[in-house]
Amino acid sequence: MYRYFIRPILFKFHPEFIHDVVIFGFRYLSNFRFILTILRRFNKFDNRLSKDIWNIRFQHPVGLAAGLDKNAEAFEMFGALGFSFVEIGTITPKSQPGNPKPRLFRLPKDKALINRMGFNNLGVDFAIAKLKKRSKNVIIGGNIGKNKLTPNSDAVNDYLLAFRKLAPYVDYVAINISSPNTPGLRDLQHKDELYELLSAISKEKELQSLSVPLLVKLAPDLSIVQLDDALDIIQKCKMDGVIISNTTISRENIPHYDMETVNQIGAGGLSGEPVREKSTIMIRQVYEKTNGRLPIIGVGGIMNPHDAVEKLEAGASLVQLYTGFIYEGPQLIKAINRLLLSRFSK
Ligand SMILES: Cc1cc2nc3c(=O)[nH]c(=O)nc-3n(C[C@H](O)[C@H](O)[C@H](O)COP(=O)(O)O)c2cc1C
Repeated sequence: MYRYFIRPILFKFHPEFIHDVVIFGFRYLSNFRFILTILRRFNKFDNRLSKDIWNIRFQHPVGLAAGLDKNAEAFEMFGALGFSFVEIGTITPKSQPGNPKPRLFRLPKDKALINRMGFNNLGVDFAIAKLKKRSKNVIIGGNIGKNKLTPNSDAVNDYLLAFRKLAPYVDYVAINISSPNTPGLRDLQHKDELYELLSAISKEKELQSLSVPLLVKLAPDLSIVQLDDALDIIQKCKMDGVIISNTTISRENIPHYDMETVNQIGAGGLSGEPVREKSTIMIRQVYEKTNGRLPIIGVGGIMNPHDAVEKLEAGASLVQLYTGFIYEGPQLIKAINRLLLSRFSK
């Protein structure tokens, strides 16, 4: 239904316009409790798929990745459509417009997107106002970042500010240090900067006696040495999990587009099928290096049910969709869970 009827219509328009229309529509529809209730009933999943991680019961392992519901406006609707958890954000302390448009591009022949949104969001206070009205029907992760105008030397303060405000309203916090579209952000993945940031947030959590799990979202472009260093610090600072991965800055695995077309699009993070393998390899490495002790949310290029199983088999406890959801719609959540269930009966 989605692939053959809805997608062809949506893909006739500019991707960011469609994104805004969908979020507006979802926000509006979320006001009607009966619509959410009906959708939820329709999208209920077998109890055998449920998972307990960080003392949270996930109805099944498929969630929505950060970036679609940036301002926490549509999470009830995404939950009702079948996602067991929704990661809102990235949210920065202050509202900011993001990069100039156009900043989101489809590469349909390679099932990919390139984006350089640049953390366009309405700020943490706006998100909190929305979250105050949340139901308990969907698990919510809060993805936090720094404002573009904040220099890296002050980045810790931005993260602390967003963390302090958001933590009481979400089920886990994702520390995003891996988006390629905020200049210098990925430098926070380097040893010293990472230690400074994670230890400060960890201390703050202790100070406030909060029990919210802390996750770190990593880039798929880290070298083995950088990954080892990051994992060392992530464990030292008692992080509760990692999200692997964000978009890639590489332009590999897009065989249907020539370099000229790709260069014309310009800078940004590549997502979808081209990042799938890179992300899965990194999941496997992290699972092995941590002896499976650090829960992993696997994300990147899950375009069909087998891609999700591949990530779970590589060591992910949960998975998230973004680009796959754009290309395949909510049906993909069902298809993944159906495949997982079929494996129980084998
Ligand atoms: C348009 C767009 C916006 C995104 N915005 C964010 C963001 O704000 N924060 C974040 O951590 N990741 C963001 N992401 C990255 C996704 O959450 C995900 O990690 C990445 O796209 C790989 O998954 P996918 O191949 O399923 O899309 C964004 C991705 C896209 C395509």
